[in-house]
Amino acid sequence: MTTTPTPSTKPSTSPGKSLGLALLAALSAIPLAGCRGERTDASPRQFFPDMDKQQRWDPQEASDFFADGRVARPTPEHAVAFASAEFDVAAHADKAWAEGYMAERAAMLKDNDAVYTGKVVESDGFESYLDAIPVTVSREMIERGQHQYNIYCVACHGFAGDGAGMVGKKWSYPPANLTGEVYRDRTNRQGKDGYLFETILNGVWAPDGTNKMPGYKHALNEMDAWAVVAYLRTLQKARGSSWEDLTPDQQAKLGRPTPASASPEAGATEGGNS
Ligand code: HEC
Repeated sequence: MTTTPTPSTKPSTSPGKSLGLALLAALSAIPLAGCRGERTDASPRQFFPDMDKQQRWDPQEASDFFADGRVARPTPEHAVAFASAEFDVAAHADKAWAEGYMAERAAMLKDNDAVYTGKVVESDGFESYLDAIPVTVSREMIERGQHQYNIYCVACHGFAGDGAGMVGKKWSYPPANLTGEVYRDRTNRQGKDGYLFETILNGVWAPDGTNKMPGYKHALNEMDAWAVVAYLRTLQKARGSSWEDLTPDQQAKLGRPTPASASPEAGATEGGNS
């Protein structure tokens, strides 16, 4: 063990110094307290004016700095637009990196209509909603969906998805019961994954333009929206399923059910909505 010389145990601040510090702290609190909650039409104080008012150019602005009078500089010769270059993932030495790069690139380009709009163009030229989630569903994805659902949807639609959230009960329009048959049945327009996806991002609008449910584009990206769709499907399964829906393996794992636990819906009335 190395012995380091202990510094002398003199207090680092003398009593006079700490009194001065306390006074300084008290004084500096006065202007802060004075500003709280007050409104003024005077121009704001600028402590760093050069940060507030920086020299900059806006896009497309004119400038006499460059000979051509434009701020925008011409693209250098042979420049390649982002993500337009050929890229062979298989040929890349670092596969994980290459796949990550391609995922990032796809997210930026959004050139997959199915994934980013939830719709496909049919042979007749009309768009229709996708029946199923167009990306691979994983456990992590469902958990992500649950996390986002519990933040953004629970207030109105409730933890069970039945539309009985605390805000939902007082909302001007009754929130839909997302575990109801309308949203389970994929042969139905409102039961398609693409429709649910679109609702999450754009909300629900009445024909007269009234917003009945806000959209969540500002908070959820497309991957989040698909994750929420996946979670909605698990909520539906969790409510309306019976012992017979389980595979023999799953039944064996859980053991024989008591009559009451065999069917969670037994005796319950269907929470009706829209
Ligand atoms: C502020 C309350 C509120 C929040 C939060 C909310 N919704 Fe809704 N939602 C509603 C209402 C109200 C309706 C019913 C609109 C109507 O009358 O058609 C609805 C309807 C729906 C529908 C059915 C749409 C249709 O056309 O049938 C889906 C699906 C849905 N919500 C999903 C969600 C999801 C997922 C979230 C979270 C991302 C969410 N909602 C958040 C209020 C809300």
